[in-house]
Amino acid sequence: MTERNSGQKIVGLAPHRQSSFYGRDIVSVRQFGREDLAYIVSVADEMRGIVKRVGATDLLKGHVLANLFYEPSTRTSSSFIAAMERLGGSVIPIHGVQYSSVSKGESLPDTIRTLECYADVIVLRHPEVGASEVAARYCSKPVISAGDGVGEHPTQGLLDLYTIYTELGRLDGLHVAMVGDLHNGRTVHSLARLMQLYDTRFSFVSPESLRLPADIKEALEGAGRVVVETDRVEEVIDQVDVLYVTRVQKERFADLSMYEAAKDYYVITPELMSGAKAKMALLHPLPRVGEIHYDVDSDPRAAYFRQMENGMYIRMALLAAVLGKA
Ligand code: NCD
Repeated sequence: MTERNSGQKIVGLAPHRQSSFYGRDIVSVRQFGREDLAYIVSVADEMRGIVKRVGATDLLKGHVLANLFYEPSTRTSSSFIAAMERLGGSVIPIHGVQYSSVSKGESLPDTIRTLECYADVIVLRHPEVGASEVAARYCSKPVISAGDGVGEHPTQGLLDLYTIYTELGRLDGLHVAMVGDLHNGRTVHSLARLMQLYDTRFSFVSPESLRLPADIKEALEGAGRVVVETDRVEEVIDQVDVLYVTRVQKERFADLSMYEAAKDYYVITPELMSGAKAKMALLHPLPRVGEIHYDVDSDPRAAYFRQMENGMYIRMALLAAVLGKA
């Protein structure tokens, strides 16, 4: 299919129940509305119930996922594998592209054309912005982005939103602060655009050099959201319902001295958390490299380990939904 989001791809499966996700690529959170999000949250809840009760199901028995990673990953790749296996499907894992024909110079379209012969759905992480849209154009099966460079990380955005919902019980009327490398952090870009759909007040906390990209800020303001930018987390810590902390993205810096200057800018400590609301959620997409002190882990508001567990339920929900079995 050449048109990414204008219709459903033809997948050789009889849909269990039609949903707006069936046969679709997931390449940007911009394709979702509030109804889609309510649907996927409810399916993720069902998946959690299945895993807690019986561990696995055979919903996707006989189906194959190609997990194609051109960049490092721990959580995203393993949670997609776990998700597919808990749904009874199987996985072609390609995590070191240096051992695949990519190292012989094969293009992304040709690699995708190859994998679609064997798999029913392709998950792709790639260093270039827009790579998953390119892949989707060449692929007759659904392509799910697992992060495209400094662009987006839609499935992380969905699991972050799901975590906010499970931690706080609502998505409207929240004050969300995002801290760290807002410029290069693709998870920030996806979550900000998702929370724009709700009545959210945004605080963006970063050094001047790592501010949120202007187009995202303009989109939030255009949607009527209050947006405040600051470089001091102390200015907002007592007001926020969600504190979303991110690492400075070392691999995106051409000049490592700029990375060194920014990397230790924020450290969330128990002292800082003592100034936060009693009911709030501290999130981090992980990996952390010093932004949250280990002593904060036992704080009941520290939700980052629950957040990564939620990633598996969201990915189970997405795989089932795009394959027409949710
Ligand atoms: C994030 C990513 O890859 O963008 N990690 C993840 O998928 N959980 C965040 C990061 O690498 O900092």
